[in-house]
Amino acid sequence: MEVVILPSSKEIAGLAADAIEALIRRKPTAVLGLATGSSPLPIYDELARRHAEDGLSFAQAHGFALDEYVGLPAGHHESYREVIRREFTNRVDIAAGNVHGPDGSAKDVLAACQGYEDDIKAAGGVDLQILGVGTDGHIGFNEPGSSFASRTRIKTLLEQTRRDNARFFDSIDQVPHHVVTQGLGTIMDARHVLLVATGAHKAQAVRDFVEGPVAAICAASVLQFHPHATVLLDEAAASAL
Ligand code: GLP
Repeated sequence: MEVVILPSSKEIAGLAADAIEALIRRKPTAVLGLATGSSPLPIYDELARRHAEDGLSFAQAHGFALDEYVGLPAGHHESYREVIRREFTNRVDIAAGNVHGPDGSAKDVLAACQGYEDDIKAAGGVDLQILGVGTDGHIGFNEPGSSFASRTRIKTLLEQTRRDNARFFDSIDQVPHHVVTQGLGTIMDARHVLLVATGAHKAQAVRDFVEGPVAAICAASVLQFHPHATVLLDEAAASAL
């Protein structure tokens, strides 16, 4: 695991965008793993800027979202499909048909989860997975206790995560209890994992997954076993290391 500490989220976004740009220029058909939450937003802003100003093209690229809430109506402002569209894919030239997300409202969720795994495989696997981390060490929505071998499936959110994410909704009551998320095994299959964390509220989770034992209680700690994991931190998020 390579840990890089930078002065601010601006530099973090620049470095992350450099890695993504290098990938896309080398392999225009690259498969990107797309995360939501606030941490990756400056990266999407920077990529949208490079698209508009430098002609960086995603026309042949593919995108796979990490996770999705269960039970939000299609088109809901906070459904991750909408967030990814609004914050990233609508701002670049990626083909709408090349952007995928797990289906949180499928009638047969188990079959939809298996289908999602199949779609990722059929696209050739994820080349670069963008990740944030939850204050409890979750990645995607793999809450503490998630199996390291897990694949895309339904999970129940912890209260802490629902509280953390309530800021995106009018009240905590509107935050769904269930989600569909790529598993830790799915995330570990990505060829390059790029995790971004900023702010003092992430310091403990960062310390736990970077320096603590590899243990299911801290899902992100599995990344210690990843052959190509890059962790980009600002000084506040790195302050407990
Ligand atoms: C959500 C998402 C995660 C994200 C986490 C942290 O729970 N499912 O993918 O990493 O939030 O979000 P933020 O970056 O806003 O702190």
